[in-house]
Amino acid sequence: MQNDLFDAAYNQILAAETYADFYARLRAYNCRRCQLCYARTNIVIDRGSPTASLMLIGERPGDNEDLQGKPFVGRAGELLDKMLRAIHLDPDKDVIIANVTKCKPEVDRAPLADEVAACMPFLEKQVALVKPRVIVLLGAVALKWIDPERAEATMEEQAGKFFRVSAYPGVQFMVMYNPAFLLRDARKKPEAWEHLKALREYLRAETRAV
Ligand code: URA
Repeated sequence: MQNDLFDAAYNQILAAETYADFYARLRAYNCRRCQLCYARTNIVIDRGSPTASLMLIGERPGDNEDLQGKPFVGRAGELLDKMLRAIHLDPDKDVIIANVTKCKPEVDRAPLADEVAACMPFLEKQVALVKPRVIVLLGAVALKWIDPERAEATMEEQAGKFFRVSAYPGVQFMVMYNPAFLLRDARKKPEAWEHLKALREYLRAETRAV
């Protein structure tokens, strides 16, 4: 854990022993660790259930997420919920959804390296407390920052693939198209449906094996 000598509240968030404490401390924290704080209304921490064994990680909040303080609540969120329900997953109970960064940028753009570096300890702590068995990375940005070994990989090669990431032992990873991307390029939807079915099969097989 990275301690900050000058920021006791930050250290308290990263020292939280329960998800409820982590959530409450981060929500109360007036984070100023990167420039994204200037455009932020709310820190966007999660949506879904912290006891879920499946975690979805997207890119970063947009305007709707910022206003509501929850990830994937705009049109992309509606599509994501529809996709989850199509494979019989309840977005409120069966998954927890987060993003690589927890604050929206001032304009529509991917998070920068220093913003990701500032925010990553929070996501790492979130994963450590939730202990998901499966993490689905939604899009190239999540893939790049969570698995540096695949930083140069394209979504065309990686979407639908299952793999492991050395920094997260015991977790099964998969990559899927970000629903926000699917809204822009509907031609990828049939492929995304195949990926969803592969995830459903994986989860079924896992349940049988437990
Ligand atoms: N909304 C989010 O919260 N994250 C994304 O990656 C896209 C839309």
